[in-house]
Amino acid sequence: MTSHPTKALFDVAGDHLAVGGIPLHRLAERVGSTPFFAYDRSLIAARVAYLRSVLPAGIRLSYAVKANPMPAVVQHLTGLVDACDVASAQEMKTALDAGMPAAQVSFAGPGKTSAELSQAVAAGVTIEMESPNEAARLVEIGNRLGIRPRVALRVNPDFQVKGSGMRMGGGPQQFGIDAEAVPSLLRDLAAADLDFLGFHVFAGSQNLHADILCEALAKNVQLLLELAASCPWPVRYLNLGGGFGIPYFEKDSPLDLSAVGKTLGELMERSIRPNLPEARVAIELGRYLVGEAGVYVTRIVDRKVSRGRIYLVVDGGLHHQLAASGNFGQVIRRNYPIAVASRMRETELETVSVVGCLCTPLDLLGDNVALPRAGIGDLVVVFQAGAYGLTASPTAFLGHPAPVEVLV
Ligand SMILES: Cc1ncc(COP(=O)(O)O)c(C=O)c1O
Repeated sequence: MTSHPTKALFDVAGDHLAVGGIPLHRLAERVGSTPFFAYDRSLIAARVAYLRSVLPAGIRLSYAVKANPMPAVVQHLTGLVDACDVASAQEMKTALDAGMPAAQVSFAGPGKTSAELSQAVAAGVTIEMESPNEAARLVEIGNRLGIRPRVALRVNPDFQVKGSGMRMGGGPQQFGIDAEAVPSLLRDLAAADLDFLGFHVFAGSQNLHADILCEALAKNVQLLLELAASCPWPVRYLNLGGGFGIPYFEKDSPLDLSAVGKTLGELMERSIRPNLPEARVAIELGRYLVGEAGVYVTRIVDRKVSRGRIYLVVDGGLHHQLAASGNFGQVIRRNYPIAVASRMRETELETVSVVGCLCTPLDLLGDNVALPRAGIGDLVVVFQAGAYGLTASPTAFLGHPAPVEVLV
């Protein structure tokens, strides 16, 4: 079987893949049904520890709840990271329920409704303002509630970060406020009753190129320092975004985190600390914290041969794990790493297509993949399922039951 760095994170006991130390066939019995998602808490903790060991002290880690909002996962991370980034009132509730203090929760995203903004102001979380209109509504809401909204301003930089799977900064964007418009907005807000904390920038996600991330970090810091100079309030918060990618596909190389850590260290020492000594500096990460720690486990319900091609038909599919089918933002479909859970050491392979149970040719989990010979009842595992899995998938499509999620 071809090796993939994410597969190597998991233990293999005998011939069996294990998650959280439990062989999957046994975990499947415990869960009681397939398909299911299993997230490994020790891998999540190890990832946070690795980040802490490589990034400079003083960089705060914020977990982007959108990556995996399972309450147990958020609760686990709440004990490990410094903050949570949320994108809706529901995610805010999840983070607060998990015990993250409101002062360490930030709320970003375009199109926040007035109801959501009111909830966020009342909760006391930091609202990352994404438009002048949102700023004006926050002032009104603050006056109405008699609470000073805690706010930061999300900046849309005047440059783009190349190499990101998804780009959310530079050029025209629905995200953030164009950098050139920030100084005049800050002037307009100078007399407003807002507890202004600082700035946020998030330019893109899924970037595996350390050199590009380092260049973007340096440019972002320079931009934010320029904007801080025109800010009527002291800057107490700088959220530098993230975008750290994980190796989804066979040819992807893991991100060189040490290079990013070195650049961040230099930026902290030479630029941020001397100019903004009061600022809490954060990076916000989703998939890098949880993506590789999760697997999607399905069971083969049929094995058939059609005109020479072998199909393994499993009881899951794109309705649970859209991203693995290639239909969540991939331009050219490539396979996520995949394995047969109880045949991890078999070396004799055959070429098969692993398809889901939905009535559409889009429901493809592995196209022409080399796997050990597997049959009905075997468990097929799709890796890289810890982020943007279940909640980023069309679960209602075709009316199959929802999968269980476990944190082990
Ligand atoms: C504002 C913001 N923060 C954080 C993230 C998390 O990105 P990732 O999971 O790639 O780290 C995103 C992703 O869309 C985002 O929009």
